Amino acid sequence: MIGSVTVASAAGAAELAARMAEAVPAVEINIGAPHGREAGAVRQLTEADGVARYVRTVSAAMDRPLIVKLPGQASDILGMARAAVDNGADAVTLIGRLGGFVPNLETWEPELGSWGAVGGPWMLPISLYWLSKCRRDLGDGTPLIGTNGARDGLDVARFLLSGAHAVELASLLLLRGAPALTEVLVQLGAYLDARGIGRLDDIIGASADRARTYAEIEPLTPPRRPWSSL
Ligand SMILES: Cc1cc2nc3c(=O)[nH]c(=O)nc-3n(C[C@H](O)[C@H](O)[C@H](O)COP(=O)(O)O)c2cc1C
Repeated sequence: MIGSVTVASAAGAAELAARMAEAVPAVEINIGAPHGREAGAVRQLTEADGVARYVRTVSAAMDRPLIVKLPGQASDILGMARAAVDNGADAVTLIGRLGGFVPNLETWEPELGSWGAVGGPWMLPISLYWLSKCRRDLGDGTPLIGTNGARDGLDVARFLLSGAHAVELASLLLLRGAPALTEVLVQLGAYLDARGIGRLDDIIGASADRARTYAEIEPLTPPRRPWSSL
């Protein structure tokens, strides 16, 4: 079991993480909570300097592995990941949910009465974008944890191929309960068995490492121009 800390102040997070580290093998600090703008008790850091200061304070206070969970809404997510690793993070989790707002059309009240945090299966490619970019930027030596958008074992395989060393699932567990996790493992196992893959390490980052820049992609000959037949 891993502890999770979401506290606005670095000093407060450090104190809580140190106490938690006495009971759990690793602690994740969530510095990307989308509720940060609405709730003073939590924090959404969106720039690298702030991440560096926060992570340095927490990592100095505890001697267990420290995982840093980053937001999905920031201009420099890769810079924040690097700042986390350079200042004591042993692993980085990508990415937190996004802020959301949905009016109720009958009452005109916002759903849940306020702003909230949203996620869903549609988050998968967005999460995998940042995960794969982070893998390419930090290299394969930094453990990355993927989260946001996985709904089955094949999605977990997609996370692994994009560079995740581990995958966090929340909605699936909340909606379908613990048996859904068994199904995920069975489906992932079948995917690996069908390809004769015995070790997860053999697929971690394989797709991220194959990604080319647009300039490296050969033009299609003949070019595909579906609009020209309209
Ligand atoms: C109801 C709910 C509550 C959540 N609470 C927290 C939380 O307290 N701390 C946190 O780091 N992430 C929290 N998350 C985010 C999840 O940990 C995770 O990053 C994300 O939901 C994973 O994506 P998935 O739901 O598509 O599996 C919460 C998610 C949901 C759906």
